Amino acid sequence: MTSETSTSTNTAPDASKLTYRPRRLRRTEALRRMVRETNLTVDDLIYPMFVMEGEDQKFEITSMPGCYRYTLDLLLREIAEIYQLGIGAVALFPVIPEVKKDDTGSESYNPEGLVQQTVKAIKQAVPKILVITDVALDPFTTHGHDGIVDENGMILNDPTVEILVKMALSQAEAGSDMVAPSDMMDGRVGAIRKALDAEGYIDVRILAYSAKYASAYYGPFRDALDSAPKFGDKKTYQMDAANAREAIKEVELDIAEGADIVMVKPALAYLDIIRQVRNFTQLPVAAYNVSGEYAMIKAAAQNGWIDEKKVILETLTSIKRAGADLILTYFAKEVALMLHR
Ligand code: PBG
Repeated sequence: MTSETSTSTNTAPDASKLTYRPRRLRRTEALRRMVRETNLTVDDLIYPMFVMEGEDQKFEITSMPGCYRYTLDLLLREIAEIYQLGIGAVALFPVIPEVKKDDTGSESYNPEGLVQQTVKAIKQAVPKILVITDVALDPFTTHGHDGIVDENGMILNDPTVEILVKMALSQAEAGSDMVAPSDMMDGRVGAIRKALDAEGYIDVRILAYSAKYASAYYGPFRDALDSAPKFGDKKTYQMDAANAREAIKEVELDIAEGADIVMVKPALAYLDIIRQVRNFTQLPVAAYNVSGEYAMIKAAAQNGWIDEKKVILETLTSIKRAGADLILTYFAKEVALMLHR
């Protein structure tokens, strides 16, 4: 024996001492399935969708290939299709024409507004799909902020909450199953819960965007709605990306105020937050796989740089593994199609 071979023999694992071999359970697909800890299913998915005024039109969003703004008639067709694929819930976002925007977002609580009409129509056409409506002023304000702005550019909390309450009530009246405040004003969950209960909407649920960060990953969504803020940023109401304890504080407050489900948003750069929230509460936890996260995968896939389907499944599985029960994702339809095959 040469000294070389004797060295390599000495460093190899001693088979007699190696009692545990994790690879045993990875040998076949049947074994891997048996010990798999996280299974992504279509039940976990909520599909965010964009609705616009008009008829018989759909426009693809440039920075979100495969996602469209639909007019109501085409949206209803699409919703019937995704419901058939097993998707149980949609989150609606409206594209509001400039002429209907104002400083206080008053179109948001118009009983005949786009969201209200859309909710009624969905409930007629596909009654069993769960309709989630967004509560925030940004699609409705000329300045693009989620709240009322004073002359110094400050976002006013309490006057904004008053409008959010009106908005949530008008959505409930239209038949929304779940209202989802995404505005990050203080105290809005409690104010909305109180008003819903007082008006008899005791079963309208609140999906609270509890830990919503001031994130650069929302860019493509703002393109989709033309809702980018006209001045400044959203850092006085959305959370600082560097903070984790504060997320738990926000979740704690929203639960105390009556949230039924709490959310972390975005998802991928915040998987640690999802895990901490999961460990903190027994409520269902949602995560929003946001527009920028979608756009990055689409762009890489279009360049042929990644295997799109595998990356999508790995990504969504990681969000679930981190602790999310529900995932809002623009990949919902694609994933439903993949899981069916
Ligand atoms: C607005 C709202 C935003 C998103 C959902 N609701 C954007 C923002 O806060 O500026 C972003 C969703 C996404 O990027 O996919 N209140």
